[in-house]
Amino acid sequence: MTRPAPIPVNEPLLDGNEEKYLVECIRTGWISSEGPFVARFEEQFAARVGRKHGVAVANGSVALDAAVVALGIGAGDEVIMPTSTIISCAAAVVRAGAKPVLVDCDADTWNMDVGAIESRITPRTRAVMPVHIFGLPVDMDPLLALARKHGLKVIEDAAEVIGQTYRSRPCGSLGDLSTFSFYPNKHVTTGEGGMIVTDDAVLAEKCRSLRNLCFKPEQRFVHDELGWNFRLSNLQAALGVAQLERLDESVAIKRRMGERYTALLRGARGLQLPVARTPYAENIYWVYGLVLEDDVSFDAREAMARLARLGIGTRPFFWPMHEQPVLRRMGLFEGERYPAAERIARRGFYIPSGMALTDEQIERTAAAIKELLR
Ligand SMILES: Cc1ncc(COP(=O)(O)O)c(C=O)c1O
Repeated sequence: MTRPAPIPVNEPLLDGNEEKYLVECIRTGWISSEGPFVARFEEQFAARVGRKHGVAVANGSVALDAAVVALGIGAGDEVIMPTSTIISCAAAVVRAGAKPVLVDCDADTWNMDVGAIESRITPRTRAVMPVHIFGLPVDMDPLLALARKHGLKVIEDAAEVIGQTYRSRPCGSLGDLSTFSFYPNKHVTTGEGGMIVTDDAVLAEKCRSLRNLCFKPEQRFVHDELGWNFRLSNLQAALGVAQLERLDESVAIKRRMGERYTALLRGARGLQLPVARTPYAENIYWVYGLVLEDDVSFDAREAMARLARLGIGTRPFFWPMHEQPVLRRMGLFEGERYPAAERIARRGFYIPSGMALTDEQIERTAAAIKELLR
């Protein structure tokens, strides 16, 4: 009997205007960041998330680097963030010479525990970096109230929630600077890419300058500050414009995927499923995460290995920042413990969640998971 084809953890859908716009780039010769799709993508993306300015960059990680530096965060400053996140968040703060200060995550939503933020504020705190995890937003109103009360900037990492809203406001409209990623597993992909959005013209200009080596506008090749080449190419932006045209459809596809998985897996022994809705949002399932309950005799690593043998792609949850060897070697987070994040890092993983996933693949994945837990 032939084995069914493996199910990749992610596969993008590129069957809209992507090819047409790419051909346009090639025919016109506009392939660099100077091409017209870049400004078009910036304007349309910013408008979609209700912001005045969009600054397209090379990926979602450098978007955070530029955001931190644009806000003037540096040596002696502290930025509060979840421990359960991608390294890009802590790396941006550390590279700027500042210190990441951590909070645990909520055991149900896997998002930063907003109630834990205030006790972490010190006279050195300059900003909070909420990170919306796996398609469900952080509870932003109390976080924004705290930021206002303590005069803190908000860097909103909205990489995983393109098309999501928080109490009907677009995710990405809630930070002083908000950032996105367009890696192929995102609801909008450009292959590699990212965006910083803001309503503040001065901050937007600062980000534009940082993205482009901080060339002095009036004297090219003269620099008052150090920037990077974080530019997005016209080819990438062309993909972005086409992807943005279908964002509503993409969100609907992911919601359908999430609902289907939940219907199939509800009641399975030993599994914590993603929260479908909170008082402030309905999950858009950037990825469909699972956490093994404590009475399951194996951990996420073992579950992923067993699923891999059945041809089912998975990825682990984030490994917490306070357990990162590279950060610990810098003397950070000595003796700190965050039990909820430690637990989901060991017992959490996500299953195939791409835009191109078929019903048959969803059903096969769910059946394999149920079999694993029998
Ligand atoms: C929350 C979050 N922030 C930042 C990033 C980094 O984005 P990129 O991979 O485009 O650098 C990711 C990537 O998936 C992410 O999930």
